[in-house]
Amino acid sequence: MIKPVKGFSKLSKNEKVSWIVTSFFKNNPNAELMIRKYWNEDEKLQQLHDEFIENTITNYYLPFGVAPNFLINGKLHTIPMAIEESSVVAAASKAAKFWYDRGGFKTEVISTTKIGQVHFLYEGCTKKLSAFFKQVVPKLMHSTQSITQNMEKRGGGITGITLKDKSHKLKNYYQIHCEFETLDAMGANFINSCLEQFAKTFKQEALLYTPFSETDKNINIVMSILSNYVPNCLVKASVSCPVEDLKTDTISGEEFAKKFITAVKIAEIEPYRAVTHNKGIMNGIDAVVLATGNDFRAVEAGVHAYAARNEQYSSLTHASIENGIFKFWIEIPLALGTVGGLTKLHPLVKLALEILGKPNAKELMQIVAVAGLAQNFGALNSLTTTGIQKGHMKMHLMNILNQLEATATEKATVANYFEGKTVTHRDVINKFEEIRKLNS
Ligand code: MEV
Repeated sequence: MIKPVKGFSKLSKNEKVSWIVTSFFKNNPNAELMIRKYWNEDEKLQQLHDEFIENTITNYYLPFGVAPNFLINGKLHTIPMAIEESSVVAAASKAAKFWYDRGGFKTEVISTTKIGQVHFLYEGCTKKLSAFFKQVVPKLMHSTQSITQNMEKRGGGITGITLKDKSHKLKNYYQIHCEFETLDAMGANFINSCLEQFAKTFKQEALLYTPFSETDKNINIVMSILSNYVPNCLVKASVSCPVEDLKTDTISGEEFAKKFITAVKIAEIEPYRAVTHNKGIMNGIDAVVLATGNDFRAVEAGVHAYAARNEQYSSLTHASIENGIFKFWIEIPLALGTVGGLTKLHPLVKLALEILGKPNAKELMQIVAVAGLAQNFGALNSLTTTGIQKGHMKMHLMNILNQLEATATEKATVANYFEGKTVTHRDVINKFEEIRKLNS
């Protein structure tokens, strides 16, 4: 039985590693070696990573790949992606090439509003609270001036502030609901600092507001926090081409388009399918969000809430045929930043942003939306024609061979054997064992 550890965060990194090794790996001398093997030999770089979080003991690698040939509004992009799933970058590159030959992707940012709320309890009458709110707004805004002045100089800031009565849903519950424009910053710190200042000023001013009774004055601030639900921070990406341009060696353009659109319609009306459909979209989105140092959990939460905005969870993409033209598009909320946070700190994030030509937040929103649309196109293309396993297993082949600890020559021989054949886990093992036997 492991005992609770006291003051763990205060131990040195070496002490933390020792504790892990003695507590969990008594019979495994390789554990410590493994932990240390992943340390970067550049001490400064390692220290940077150590300090991102508390209690770092080592690094956790993800592959950082690129998908080239994305034509977006007439400009070529190479998209960096950080992801472990073997088929994602390959599918993105394939979709990029396919649409490059058909006019590329078109994108537009629809809106960039972010939201934050001060949640509080108030026991008095709503009318009195509304009157107080009206007169306190200028004071609230004034109290945040030191936080907002730089953002305002650049054209952003607090763009809306309203009182919301939610007491019909939860007794005495109200909100100060705020809207923000944070330009190229994701804006979490900016928004939360403004909200915490609002909460402080709101409470102080309530104590001085003479129409309030003693009970009214006792406003109970529950919390002040931004919302990751950003239905008005929206971006749209689309592709289109004549239906006949979708034809391949095995399927006519019309047959492909009809089946593809049916697959999208199924995801629009069937939540079980919609979740997997959208998961595939997020394969592309998260990979770029992560590579560019943005918060993929925030993006995930906001995107899925948006997918459920009409009371039933549904597809984020849509497709149609109009006058012989196939159209496929995505509309999603994406609160992203290209300044602040990890963007200046993580060397690979800087590199990713440079590969993208140092985009501003709006440009990054468009690139990320394209990555999601392309990924969904790739998935539906495979699902409605060859099935998904063909491509997946081909990409998974190396993972299986690595698990088997195959040598470079064995890998090449097995890969060569499976060229043009369907890859199954069992067949790979059989082939590998056959080759090993032959050479032993
Ligand atoms: C797998 O990671 C993603 C897919 O399941 C997406 C989809 O079904 O559309 C292939």
